[in-house]
Amino acid sequence: MKKILKVLVIAVAAVFLLLQFTNPARTNPPVKSDLIASLNPPAPVAASLVAACYDCHSYQTKWPWYAHVAPVSWLVVKDTNDGRDALNFSEWPTNDPDTAADQLDGMSKKITYNKMPPAKYTAIHVDARLTAEQRKALTDWLDAAADKLKSSAK
Ligand code: HEC
Repeated sequence: MKKILKVLVIAVAAVFLLLQFTNPARTNPPVKSDLIASLNPPAPVAASLVAACYDCHSYQTKWPWYAHVAPVSWLVVKDTNDGRDALNFSEWPTNDPDTAADQLDGMSKKITYNKMPPAKYTAIHVDARLTAEQRKALTDWLDAAADKLKSSAK
């Protein structure tokens, strides 16, 4: 019985070690144009965006240690790649005010309805938990910035 247990532990450890060769690439390509640099929000709003959104929606991801450990790394890298595909603050459409305004509106909605940042993220990232005041500051600024861009696009 003891021997079976020993073989089992070694087998599980071996599989875990082999899995580490499957870690996907954790990229941070160069920032093309940054949302904060381009729109210059007040410092508290910028801080909330960085704390709650930038890990998944920019090329300035702070990869946590568990992003280096399969199988968790598969999930973290996929989420980040999906987040960047959907909305990317490092490829901010500075020269396209209509698109930028649409993206700001979308962000405001996701924050208002508590869809972003995702609960699985705030469960781990305490500093990404936004208070009601932080949410309001964010959505007020997002809405005003979107309106400004829309009127400049006309
Ligand atoms: C854990 C990673 C993660 C974090 C943190 C995160 N998002 Fe997302 N976000 C995603 C993923 C993945 C998608 C694409 C799938 C979906 O819509 O759920 C997405 C989609 C979106 C979309 C929809 C884009 C579109 O047009 O399809 C918006 C808007 C958005 N996020 C805003 C935000 C904002 C604002 C924050 C910060 C308050 C934030 N997200 C934080 C992962 C994240």
